[in-house]
Amino acid sequence: MSLLLRNNLGLRAALSNVICSRKVSTTPQLLSDQLVVHRDTPDNNPDIPFQFTEANMKRLTALVQNYPEGSQVSAISMAMDLVQRQIGWIPISAQHKIAELLSMPRMRVYEWATFYTMCKRTYRGKFNVKVCKTTPCMLRGSDIILRAVEEATCCCVGSVSPDKMFGVDLVECQGACANAPVLVVDDDYYEDVTVSDVYNIIQTLKSGGIPPCGPQSGRYAAEPACGLTTLLTCPPPPGYCVQPALFKG
Ligand code: FES
Repeated sequence: MSLLLRNNLGLRAALSNVICSRKVSTTPQLLSDQLVVHRDTPDNNPDIPFQFTEANMKRLTALVQNYPEGSQVSAISMAMDLVQRQIGWIPISAQHKIAELLSMPRMRVYEWATFYTMCKRTYRGKFNVKVCKTTPCMLRGSDIILRAVEEATCCCVGSVSPDKMFGVDLVECQGACANAPVLVVDDDYYEDVTVSDVYNIIQTLKSGGIPPCGPQSGRYAAEPACGLTTLLTCPPPPGYCVQPALFKG
């Protein structure tokens, strides 16, 4: 057997060992009816009334006034966001309320709601836990983080925990790749997370606390994990290296 062939066989055996020992991350199947179709359920149907709170109604009125007469529909994203912040998700009756308030066809609201994945059209738990699965996070072990999240919350990805406290979602890049792997709970980012960080974060949420967000590794921000390698000295003062002739006399 040639040396090249032997090397190739060795490489293939090593690769298959790696693949067998590590779960390959796969995207859960989202059927088209889950993505774009609304089906009435006892918890989500047009007969369940929705009202903005007084404070949110005031906010929406102020936001609508930012747009010129006739373009109030542009406030739709703010209206959707207000609903989601008020009750955690956007039921069909809230979509109808927005259509009514912004004088727009309901279909335009449905289009918006089904286009943006951050718009939650089903209840996603008191805390919506999102695990980033895009390449940098995947290379830093997001599949292992996801398994820890599922175990800690007793909730599979795409569903809500039996106590309705957690909903777990897989998401694309959250824009914090330098601090991968990243976990997002509602609006709070937890970066550089390890499996034990996941259990601590979920346990703190369960006991009513708010875990400190940001890098969990002790990093201040996105500086190199092994310490600074550049910008080691204080920056020079204004005027550094400027020709003397350019200084004001
Ligand atoms: S890839 Fe996870 S935050 Fe960018």
